[in-house]
Amino acid sequence: MSFDRSIKIAPSILASDFANFGAECTAVEAEGADWIHVDVMDGHFVPNITFGPSTCAAIRPHIKGVMDVHLMIAPVDPYIDAFAEAGADVLTAHIEAGPHIHRTLQAIRAAGMKAGVALNPGTPAEAVAEVLDIADLVCVMTVNPGFGGQRFIDMRDKIRALRALIGDRPVHIEIDGGVDPMTAPLVAEAGANVLVAGSAVFKDGSVQNSSPYGANIKAIRAAAEGVWT
Ligand code: DX5
Ligand code: ZN
Repeated sequence: MSFDRSIKIAPSILASDFANFGAECTAVEAEGADWIHVDVMDGHFVPNITFGPSTCAAIRPHIKGVMDVHLMIAPVDPYIDAFAEAGADVLTAHIEAGPHIHRTLQAIRAAGMKAGVALNPGTPAEAVAEVLDIADLVCVMTVNPGFGGQRFIDMRDKIRALRALIGDRPVHIEIDGGVDPMTAPLVAEAGANVLVAGSAVFKDGSVQNSSPYGANIKAIRAAAEGVWT
């Protein structure tokens, strides 16, 4: 996985058909997805439960590109090896999930994955200042995590602060929550380059009729890239 700051669209399968994850991943990659975003929730760190490492392992063979696993669980450390074995390329843990984010990020890298740190809307950019040298991605939540389809919370000041803190380091800024063609240019202009989108990608389509996925991805990408032209 080489690093660059081009816009990457990462559809979240939280908004896809849970009985058809394999086919949904194949369809959305064929329609232009750059990464596949996989939301793991434990009903403890967030008020919703999705699935764990065994489901990630089952999905993995259906993803050609990057499998971007977002852990909304606490604790994280006991499960890092399981997600490495499941084939995660990027493993992101919340800074709010425990007292030892530095240890967690080191353990994720030691297990052979790219290490991500996610920030809830209430957590400031400065909270990650001391771990930027051991992180590959910072995920700025633009909703309170737990559910898809929520309203975008404007975190542009935090994104700008993070972009300045990151400087030349090869660290992605990922945005998660309420990303659509209206909000994508706002966050891209502020410095984000990985855009997670659930509802806005999977709406109007299905495995049998996947062309809306392509149109939705194109619309988000064009809106985000448009801020540079
Ligand atoms: C929210 C998840 C998101 C979610 C985004 O807790 O982390 O990845 O799927 O969904 P949308 O794009 O519908 O806001
Ligand atoms: Zn997510």
